[in-house]
Amino acid sequence: MRPLFDMHCHMLCNVDDGAKTPDIMFAMLEAAYEDGVRALCLTPHYSPYLFGDTFSKSERSFALLSDYVAKNHPDMRLFLGHELGYHHGCITALENGKCRTVAGSRYVLVDFPEKVNFFELSNAMKQLRSMGFQPILAHAERYRCLSSKFDWIRSFVEDGGVVQINASSVMGSWGLLAKMQWKKLLRLGLVHLICSDAHNMDSRPPRMSVCMEYLQKHCSEGTIRRLTWENAWQIVQDLPI
Ligand SMILES: [Fe+2]
Repeated sequence: MRPLFDMHCHMLCNVDDGAKTPDIMFAMLEAAYEDGVRALCLTPHYSPYLFGDTFSKSERSFALLSDYVAKNHPDMRLFLGHELGYHHGCITALENGKCRTVAGSRYVLVDFPEKVNFFELSNAMKQLRSMGFQPILAHAERYRCLSSKFDWIRSFVEDGGVVQINASSVMGSWGLLAKMQWKKLLRLGLVHLICSDAHNMDSRPPRMSVCMEYLQKHCSEGTIRRLTWENAWQIVQDLPI
């Protein structure tokens, strides 16, 4: 089975809008393991206006999941991060450690509302960079403002920016436009990570393999390995992709 690294998921329980109970968290972990996932970065939301301070809650839940994994799947590696909902003042939260980078690296998983405007998004990326962080743009296929900005995405990538897309979007789970943007980003070679962004066992389950058939038709074996395994390992080791 192909080993997968899921760099973006909301599996930790009682933290945000992800798993609601420890049992759901364990069920999600089992589903991911069954799917081939052997490394996971847990990325609860850091959006204080929506979920409050998720730092301590996520630490407790991460400890619980780590115990479970050590007992049941010792070949699984876990890392901890946050998904930063970009907002005024969030750089301070990164600097004082309230919002985590990915596994303590300089990479930050950043999320915006779907209808964010282009100037806000591009300025946010500039600001993160100027403070020494390297942004990972979460589910890049979902931002409408980027549908005509592929040149900007290319220059973002050339400057070391990381582009992440959700596996399920190729099945149309975020609508036709997101599905088309997903395919175009991939075709242009502007994607670094494919992740589940799983939130539960029903509507948003941890299934990275859902896009595998498409990848096998359209990408080389080496590209698939980079998008689903190797690039994520570079990131958690704080190395360039
Ligand atoms: Fe997410």
